[in-house]
Amino acid sequence: MPVKNAIQVLVLSAILLWIAPLSAQIADFPPDTVAGIPVNYTEANVGEYTLPALLQLENGKAVKSADVWMDQRRAEIVKLIEENQFGRCPEPRDISFEVHEKGVPAFDGKALRTQVTIHFTKDKSRPKMDLVIYLPPDATGPVPLLLNISFSANELFIDDDAVRPGMIWNREHELIPASQGRPFGKLDVVRVVEQGIGIATFYYGDVDPDFNGGFDFGVRKLYLKPGQTERAADEWGSISAWGWGISCAIDYFETDDTVDEKKIAIYGISRLGKTVMWEGGRDPRVAMVIASCSGEGGAALSRRDFGETVAHLTEASRFPYQFAVNYQKWGNNVNESPVDAHMLVALIAPRPVLLITGNTDKWSDPYGEFLAAVAAEPVYELLGKKGLGKTEFPPAGEPILHDIGYYMHDGGHGPGPGDWDVMFKFIKMHLQ
Ligand code: GCU
Repeated sequence: MPVKNAIQVLVLSAILLWIAPLSAQIADFPPDTVAGIPVNYTEANVGEYTLPALLQLENGKAVKSADVWMDQRRAEIVKLIEENQFGRCPEPRDISFEVHEKGVPAFDGKALRTQVTIHFTKDKSRPKMDLVIYLPPDATGPVPLLLNISFSANELFIDDDAVRPGMIWNREHELIPASQGRPFGKLDVVRVVEQGIGIATFYYGDVDPDFNGGFDFGVRKLYLKPGQTERAADEWGSISAWGWGISCAIDYFETDDTVDEKKIAIYGISRLGKTVMWEGGRDPRVAMVIASCSGEGGAALSRRDFGETVAHLTEASRFPYQFAVNYQKWGNNVNESPVDAHMLVALIAPRPVLLITGNTDKWSDPYGEFLAAVAAEPVYELLGKKGLGKTEFPPAGEPILHDIGYYMHDGGHGPGPGDWDVMFKFIKMHLQ
């Protein structure tokens, strides 16, 4: 073998040996096809890539101080992600809060319940969003709060008969009473408030329906300019809209003196994990982000060809409506995209972010989320915070919790074993 080839083989095997222990948690898996697009589940076939620089301004200058990051680079990245991935949100207008009840004892006095409707229109017609809030009964002042964005309507998600009835979108894309729907998990309210924190939740479909063609029934239609019939290519997809709903909830918390509006953590799973990543990056009022199984388009590096890709996400029959129209440009061209998931993580800095993944959730590329967190670490360090501090992929069940946190549960897509305990620990570390 010529010397040059021998060296190449040596270098390649060294790289593979180095990668192997890092990714051993995620065993290779036979390839698959989704929406006619192949899916790679073999680490060695992920491909080579270079991530866009974080600590470099668009004018080429290096970002060397926290001020330059916070005042200049951050804004550049927000704009890039708006234009190329999720789409710009408008400033809310005509929003009002209708407080139905405040601090009413619930769960045998173990929690205090508040219910609010956030109206998005002056005439208070749909769309509007029902927020239910539970606080610890013995709080002596405003409390930190975990705001959950949910696939379930409030009345299906919480075993409390006093929760106001809502409406949901069914599989046929009709709006039906939530009581006719099926629950998607249950929220253990008492367990949360026992930690000394509040919990609030709302149904994402109150803000924007989750289907192709749902545009006419959600908030986005309300913001079309006169004469405009559809959103521009850089305007909000549903994920931006759901995140915008979170920011409206924070607007409400700013008016409620029982909640510490400076200590709001936001939590979402899956597409709602993508939502909390983006909203946390966009809205500096968010104090902490907990994104579970956010995967492609969330915390997983898009340049890695493993599991779902931008091409899968934006394929016409799947989820193009969740993103800016511009995102489709990068489906078959991801290495040219000016954005990737490490930027989404970095936008949350210096605020804490916890990434939860599952070791069998290969579609969401848990290792790609870990690598995005590693890549975002220099930004946390520049701001005097601590990233993961490790480049070795941790086994399932062993959280790494600093200002960036990473926890891979032993299981698949969705809530997994240990998630809540790790979340409580992370919240207590940073918000209590
Ligand atoms: C699909 C989609 C994912 C998304 C998930 C979910 O699997 O491909 O990107 O996260 O749905 O929201 O459950």
